[in-house]
Order: sequence, then structure tokens, then C-alpha cells
Amino acid sequence: MRRYRVGILGATGLVGQSFILLLNNHPWFEVKALMASPSSKGKRYAEAVGERWKQDRDIPDSVRDLKLLGTDQIHQLKEEVDLVFSAVNMEKSSLIQLEEKIAGEGIPVVSNNSATRWLPDVPMVIPEINPSHTNLIEAQRERLKTKTGFIVVKPNCSLQSYVPALTPLLGFGISQVFVTTYQAVSGAGRHLPDWPEMQDNVIPFISGEEEKSENEPLKIWGQVTENEVQLAQKPKISAQCIRVPVEVGHLAAVFVRFDRKVSEKVILDAWQNFTSQVDELELPSAPRPFLNYFDETDRPQPKLDALGDWGMRVSIGRLRKDPIFDYKFVCLSNNLVRGAAGGSVLTAELLVRQGWIQAGG
Ligand SMILES: NC(=O)c1ccc[n+]([C@@H]2O[C@H](COP(=O)([O-])OP(=O)(O)OC[C@H]3O[C@@H](n4cnc5c(N)ncnc54)[C@H](OP(=O)(O)O)[C@@H]3O)[C@@H](O)[C@H]2O)c1
Repeated sequence: MRRYRVGILGATGLVGQSFILLLNNHPWFEVKALMASPSSKGKRYAEAVGERWKQDRDIPDSVRDLKLLGTDQIHQLKEEVDLVFSAVNMEKSSLIQLEEKIAGEGIPVVSNNSATRWLPDVPMVIPEINPSHTNLIEAQRERLKTKTGFIVVKPNCSLQSYVPALTPLLGFGISQVFVTTYQAVSGAGRHLPDWPEMQDNVIPFISGEEEKSENEPLKIWGQVTENEVQLAQKPKISAQCIRVPVEVGHLAAVFVRFDRKVSEKVILDAWQNFTSQVDELELPSAPRPFLNYFDETDRPQPKLDALGDWGMRVSIGRLRKDPIFDYKFVCLSNNLVRGAAGGSVLTAELLVRQGWIQAGG
């Protein structure tokens, strides 16, 4: 297998740090370039990230002394990498401009940011669920006038537990979903010890999160046409998103109504037997299995289960009948791995296998 040279935009941030660790010793990808804000430009990585490095492992030697590039050095970036992972906090229109500039230079961008998610020709991908949406890349390349660059984006972290759990059930005709997410502080790029308002408390508002949780699944479940995704018409989703004093792991309590009668066994079998194209592609970051159902009544729990298969597995539990909806259950995903860096690395692995990314150096 050829090695691919990768860059990380937003390398000093919380998700950027997660990329650094996940890509250390990755069998296909090798970190060759790092970028962050103008204030980090020219600094060595260890110096630029400084006290903000909050991982339980040290900064890998391979990146410790890499000098950070500025976002005005895209030409140089092009010489150094075959693809870029992006996780930056920037204003939406500047970020679209920046990611399109990188893609326009011929560099594939796998993005964690919400800015481009609703551009019609940008695929929003969970590899196990909608791998064929990457076919939109052709249309996007025409628009951006590039033969090799493109942007593929990962959906919001809040929905990466219940969208995987609902996908195997779509064939039974889900009409309505009500979901409450209980989201970890790391989802806001924060840590519990440094966020006094969150200690011994919950905050029942996360800006913009409920809209993303209700709408993004409809693009993921949509049908790709020549140059856009026709949104799925069902199910209707109502979401409440709540910040809880947990470091890592977004939990969701889900209520589902079906068009027709479905037994508990059929639902459990659908989860257990769920397969996807990813199973055959032997992607290094793919969890096996993707979905894991717990019989124990007190699982899944963020502390015990968010690290299943290095944070890539989605956990489900507590399936039972509901007196108002038809069924209810609980599910969990790791917001920093499956919901951010790990989901992006898996997406890049899919794009390599599909032939969208070429190794140059
Ligand atoms: N945390 C999560 O669980 C999670 C999950 C999924 C998606 N995301 C998304 O991932 C992105 C990053 O999140 P985060 O939690 O890692 O944020 P963060 O810890 O605040 O890090 C932000 C990064 O953006 C860089 N940056 C800021 N302004 C910039 C500019 N003008 N040009 C270039 N780089 C700039 C920062 O560089 P400096 O160090 O130089 O300032 C830093 O590397 C956000 O879009 C977020 O919504 C986060």
C-alpha cells in the first residue's frame, strides 16, 4: 500500500490534536504539514500548541518540531501533501473560501467543519451509511475547476450515535423520531476542569445544534443525483441538545414511531446484521462491528463505552416499547473520534479505496 502525505488544518485545536494521535503510525497516512491561525504560523508544533495539549499521550516525535504553515501558504502545502484534514474555528464564509481555495489547488479536503455541509455538491458522509455520495465529487470538481481537489465533509458530532442506529431501521418505515442528546464538554472544544459553569450542572442549550441534528440526517439519507443530494422526506426528527458534565461521549435518548408494526426482535436483528460496503474494503479505522448492542440495562455509558474499538464503534442499549411512540432506546458515540477526527480518517480511507485520492510524493 502506498503512503499518502497528509496535512492538518487546525492542528493545534482539540480535534487537531486528536488527528495528530490517530494518524501517528497510521498504515496509509503520514503527517507532513500542519496549519493553524496566523498567530501560530512559523512556530514549531510543540511550541504553538503549548499548554493546550491535553491528551493522555505525549506529542509524537514525528510532528513535535514541524513548523506550522499559514493559510497564505497553500502553494507550498500543495508540494507537501496529498490531502488535508480540516478542523478549524473560523467564520463560515472565510472558511468556505479557505477550503475551496485548498481544493481548487488540487488538494482533497476532508472537513470537520459545518461551513460547507449544505453546499449542494459537497458530500456529507458517514462511510458505513452513504459511501456512494462521494460520486458528487465529479460535479464539485467541475465547479471548482480542478481535476484532483474536492471537499468532503463529515456531519455534526451530535447525530453520530442515532443516525447509525436508525439507518438499519429505515426499511421498516420510520415516520417520526424524537431525540434528546446529552453532549460532552469536549464537543465544545472545552475541558471540564476549565469550565466551572459546567461542573455539577447541565446547560440546556447548544447554539445551532438542534437544527443540525434535525436536518443533516436528511442529507445523509438522501439520494444523489448528478450534482446534488435530494433530501430524504422522512423521518421527521425533533431534537433537543443538552450539554452535560462529561468529558467525552455524546449520548442520545431516542423515541421512534414506525409506519407499521415491528417487533423488538426484528429491530435487534437489524442492528446485529447491519452490513455496509465498508466491511469489504478493509479500511484500517473501520470498527468491527460498527454497531454494538448492550443487553445490560445500564449501558452504554460514556465512561465505560465511548472508547469501544478506539472510539469508532457506536453503542446502543435499552431498547423497549414506548407508550406514546413505538420504541425507545439509548445510543452513544465518541464525539472526538467517531464524531470528529476518527470519522474523518475513516472517510479519507474510503476515498482512497474509491480512487478519489492519489499519492503524489
Ligand atoms: N470538539 C469536537 O468534539 C468537534 C466534533 C466535531 C467537529 N468539530 C469541529 O471541528 C472544528 C474545530 O473544533 P475544535 O474543538 O478542535 O476547536 P479548537 O480547539 O478551538 O481549535 C481551533 C483550531 O482552529 C485554528 N484557527 C482558528 N482561527 C484560524 C484561522 N483564522 N485560520 C486558520 N486556523 C485557525 C486554531 O489555531 P490556533 O491554535 O493558531 O488559534 C486551532 O488550531 C470546529 O469547526 C468544530 O465545530 C469539533
